Order: sequence, then structure tokens, then C-alpha cells
Amino acid sequence: MGKRGFLICIEGLDKSGKTTQSRLLVENLRGLGFDALYTSEPSDGEIGRFIERYILRRNRRIPIPAEALLFAADRVDHVEREIKPLLDEGKIVISDRYIYSSLAYQGASGLDLQWIMEINRMVPRPDLAIYLDVPVEVVMKRIQMGRRRTVMENLEVQTRVREIYLKLVEDGFLILVDGNRPIMEVAQDIQRIVLERLELSQRV
Ligand code: TMP
Repeated sequence: MGKRGFLICIEGLDKSGKTTQSRLLVENLRGLGFDALYTSEPSDGEIGRFIERYILRRNRRIPIPAEALLFAADRVDHVEREIKPLLDEGKIVISDRYIYSSLAYQGASGLDLQWIMEINRMVPRPDLAIYLDVPVEVVMKRIQMGRRRTVMENLEVQTRVREIYLKLVEDGFLILVDGNRPIMEVAQDIQRIVLERLELSQRV
């Protein structure tokens, strides 16, 4: 049997700071001598790039089941092409969004969460999933200040997405970190949680 890596995903609303935190986590873990790598979804593969064009950068949503299936297809591709080979080499992979983004975003549009789980059954569950919580008003202010990037960036969607993320926290799938604080404080909290979990998994 080969070495088994460790898969962490960081989840949150649009503009919640999760990309900054995912990258900082990689940097901090590397500083401590771990072999950590950053990746994100939608992925930079062909399906991911198609999603970017066909779903995110349009003004209208496509039928939500089709959206969920495309994100699930991209995830399988992402895992096979990138995540699994890295885990097989024993690396720590930090994914900026993963399965829970589909549950939260496509679930927020009314899709059955069980069905979303079902179509994502082919990919491994993460070893650790963190949800960076930021109030909807804060992300909406950031969205209004910048350029609107995706079709998801509106008040109703973000409000429902946050409700689902919080429910997933309550049900024990995600660990909540308060993201509405200075960047370095948030990063320290995330690092502490990750190190504790790595220790439990006897990788430290
Ligand atoms: P981001 O790259 O800024 O995080 O944006 C990706 C967008 O794609 C974000 O609005 C959430 C959305 N998304 C879904 O709706 N479902 C998914 O499964 C994933 C991975 C992303």
C-alpha cells in the first residue's frame, strides 16, 4: 500500500476570503515542513473551464440539475487528474471549494441534498472540511465594491447558501471558523485546527 495523503477543503461564500486563507494555509504548512499543495474548484481542467464560461460568467442560470451534474463531473475529473495522484504521493492537498460547494450552492436553488450527495459519490470525502463564516452583508459589500464575477453573487443566493453551510456545520460535516476577523487571526485558527487533525491522523 502506498502513502496516504490528507485532503482538506475550505468552503465559504463568494468573497469570504477562502482563497486567501487556503493559500496562507499552504504557505504556513510548507513553512512547518509539510508537503502541502493548493488546488481549487471549478478546476482548471476542460470541464472546469467550460463551467466558468457556460455557468458562472453568464447572467442567467441554466437548469439547476444540469449545473449540479457539471460541477460533479468536474469534481470527478479534478480528483482523477490531480487530487488522487497527489494523495497517493502522500501530499496534503488543500482544495479551495469541494463537494460542500455543490450542496450549498445547488442546494440553495432547491435541489435535494441527498441527490447532490449521490452524484458526488465517486469522489473521496475530505479528511477535514472547514467553513469560513462571514456575514452575508459583509460579502455583499465586497461584491458591490468590486466587479460582479459570477451569476451566484446576489443577496438571495448568498443568504440561502450560508443557511445550508450552517446546517452542514450543525450536522458535523464542516468545522466553522469565524472569517470576519483580521486575516492573520483567521489563518492561525485554521492552522491550529489542521495541525490538531493531522496529529490525530498520526501524520505529525
Ligand atoms: P470562486 O472561484 O470565486 O470560489 O467561485 C466559484 C463559483 O462557483 C462560486 O460562485 C460558487 C460556484 N460553485 C457552485 O455553485 N457549485 C460548486 O460545486 C462549486 C465548486 C462552485
